[in-house]
Amino acid sequence: MNITLLGAGAIGALWAVKLTQQQHNVQLWTRNSATETTLHFSELNAPNTSNNYSFNCNDPHALAASELFIVTVKAFQVTTAITPLLPYLSADCVVVIMHNGIGSQHQVQQLLPHNPIIYATTSQAAFKSTPTTVHHTGLGQTSLGAINQQAQTQSNIAKVFNAALSPSQWQANIYQPLWQKLAINCAINPLTAVNQCCNGDLAQACYQSQLDNICNEVAQVMTAEGFSTTQQQLRHQVDTVITATAANYSSMNRDIFHHRLTEIDYISGYLVQQAQRHHIDTPINKQLWQAIKHMESQDHE
Ligand code: PAF
Repeated sequence: MNITLLGAGAIGALWAVKLTQQQHNVQLWTRNSATETTLHFSELNAPNTSNNYSFNCNDPHALAASELFIVTVKAFQVTTAITPLLPYLSADCVVVIMHNGIGSQHQVQQLLPHNPIIYATTSQAAFKSTPTTVHHTGLGQTSLGAINQQAQTQSNIAKVFNAALSPSQWQANIYQPLWQKLAINCAINPLTAVNQCCNGDLAQACYQSQLDNICNEVAQVMTAEGFSTTQQQLRHQVDTVITATAANYSSMNRDIFHHRLTEIDYISGYLVQQAQRHHIDTPINKQLWQAIKHMESQDHE
């Protein structure tokens, strides 16, 4: 397939390389005007060796010819990153959006009223040790599903993703896995960012009651939204991710560390807003949302 990928951070670069390995024709859309870039990529099972992958970049003709447009920028960047590219996108190009959190769906549907729109969430892990060096550090499930009528018939895209990096699965209701991931992000991201600790540190005794309370609040809101879950189930999933990613620093930990904006409005902020619609009190998520907003405002005065 002809593919354009916008937002080659660690996860975006991982998919760009994995799709290239399947002989897809992938171009990257970057913030600068480079026409070519090379990524150095180390596989999960060979962390000490890297292979080079060259990509064409920023060619509007290649964008217009793209059958698949993958957007892996941060949640708060989605609309500003897509808007200048709208004149080039063909109306039948399938758009896949992958970011932490929930809340960009409405604006994306308004921007792209004709295109099939798929949302995706992944538990694959990757990190960049330099701007062009990417390491695949953990396997995990990827879920994809339609958020508009036009995408209902696009389950083949999950097969493309699965061939590149399995397991990738098509979901009849993508909001279920998006909420599951939201629960994990509500627990791990703000706590690791506020305390500037790695994910594994959250296994310490001092964090257990906060994690219980976060999962309790998220479970109440998910139940009100019509998803069947319990505090215990969410807590178990959070603990599994804490163990599996013990040595990693969460994306929000890194954003605060590097004085960047975070995805908090699309994680704890989204949770609190949905809770308010259902008249559910979510004090701990609200407190963490405000704590991160405060840290961001100190950085961006
Ligand atoms: O945002 C992140 O870093 C990841 O989504 C997760 C699952 C919290 C692991 O670090």
